[in-house]
Amino acid sequence: MTASFAAVLDKALDSGPTDQSEDITAQKDFPLMPYGEAYDMGKADDGTPLIDPRIFNSLEFMRNPYPYYRIMRDHYPVFHDKLHNCYYVTRYQDVTDCYFDDEGFNTIPKGSSSGVLGNTQLELSGVEHRRRRNLYGQHLVGKSLANRIPAIERLAEEMIGDWDSMTHEPFIEDQDGVRTIEIGKAFANEFPIRVVCEVLGFPKEAQGDFYYWYNSMMTGLGGSETHKQGVEARQHLEDYVEGIVEERRKNPTYLYDNDGNVISKDIITKLCETKVDGDYLSTEEITSNIALVVGGGGETTRGAIMNMTYLLLNHPDQFDAVMKDESLWDNAFHETLRHSTPIGGQPRHNTYDIVMHGVHIPAGSLVNMVDFSANHDDRVFKDPETFDIFRDDLYTGKLIRSGYAKEGRYSHMAFGVGPHLCPGAWISHQEATIGVRILSKHLKNMRINTELQAKDIDGKTLAPMGLISVRDLWIDYDLK
Ligand code: HEM
Repeated sequence: MTASFAAVLDKALDSGPTDQSEDITAQKDFPLMPYGEAYDMGKADDGTPLIDPRIFNSLEFMRNPYPYYRIMRDHYPVFHDKLHNCYYVTRYQDVTDCYFDDEGFNTIPKGSSSGVLGNTQLELSGVEHRRRRNLYGQHLVGKSLANRIPAIERLAEEMIGDWDSMTHEPFIEDQDGVRTIEIGKAFANEFPIRVVCEVLGFPKEAQGDFYYWYNSMMTGLGGSETHKQGVEARQHLEDYVEGIVEERRKNPTYLYDNDGNVISKDIITKLCETKVDGDYLSTEEITSNIALVVGGGGETTRGAIMNMTYLLLNHPDQFDAVMKDESLWDNAFHETLRHSTPIGGQPRHNTYDIVMHGVHIPAGSLVNMVDFSANHDDRVFKDPETFDIFRDDLYTGKLIRSGYAKEGRYSHMAFGVGPHLCPGAWISHQEATIGVRILSKHLKNMRINTELQAKDIDGKTLAPMGLISVRDLWIDYDLK
């Protein structure tokens, strides 16, 4: 096996002698396979399927990753990718163990994100991380959030209400009593940013600017060309936040419920009053936290709304069931995140030499935890490629840092587990279920416009999600 694998790798890297007598099929362009089938990259002497690491850069992998992850889980639970100089951990149990081992697997400076978002808790581990983690995380859960739910519902209603005056893209002129609209541009792209802005306690007039800064910061994470745009947007955000912070240090402001009763001080005011190690947080620290919340909660929740809508509309019986029984929205949300999570995994660095599944990982290596794969591990989830809101092996209750694995039910990995478990899990749950519920309440007989919606390689079937969330989702609905 080793010899064949080395030969495939030599060929993949174009770096060494290749024994042409071996049946090696490594190549740079991978054919697009029928969805769910892996391309045969050759076999080792013992019949083990080989993985050519160039597949990870291919269009085929982007649209059809799961059969390849299955090969990795079954044959290379720790895959050493010598082409990209990193390791992939793909089984549910291993990913969970590594996430919990905060000292053995450190979070790492996430490249351009630290430049754009600032010095955030994402990059910290151990005590330093714990000290900062709850600064605002506590305000995104429990009673403080429950009190905000009417405001989140109101925001969704307002955005959908605005459609009546819409005359440009993503709206298509009504025909025969049917309206066609693209849900991302009309709703899902902006809704999570507006919610976060509202929950943090920024004035409503700032929501448009926040959406602009958010978009620019996200573009800035994309690479060197757009990095400058991201850094500039963060500077604008910082200038704006600085003014607000200075003001709130003097005059605290409050959150109110729909009846005008004070709920509590708003999150920015609380951050202004927070001390770490005896010192108040600096404006820079507050801005970084705000940038992280805005950055962390936007694209992810947008993806959850888009994917949940797409999956439910593609499974009309399950959509009908949710419409009849509101309690099933929680199942729909968690099954969406298990089946098609908007965030595929997280990088870590191991702090000491380890051997996992016989693979030696030298200290300081880049080790990728593949949440996508863990969520599709059939050691845990039966028939994992099937979207089924009624599955009896998925935990759909409130998420906890220690994860949930009891009585045959397991938490999905979309929010991570352990010390870095997403503090926005609960609020994004509320946003996504409220958003899709209100959309389905307003859009009568809502269905996918199969002509406009992107197709798979056969030109007929709707495109699979693969490694990216649904970008554009074209919907028809009846006006009467
Ligand atoms: C469906 C939506 C979301 C998904 C799938 C998601 C996913 C994740 C994941 C996987 C992590 C763990 C990172 C790691 O282990 O290194 C994380 C962390 C984080 N998320 Fe989310 N997230 C979502 C929504 C949100 C929202 C709405 C917010 C804020 C309002 C948010 C704020 C954060 C923050 C601040 C962290 C850093 C936590 C830490 O390092 O301790 N996320 N998220």
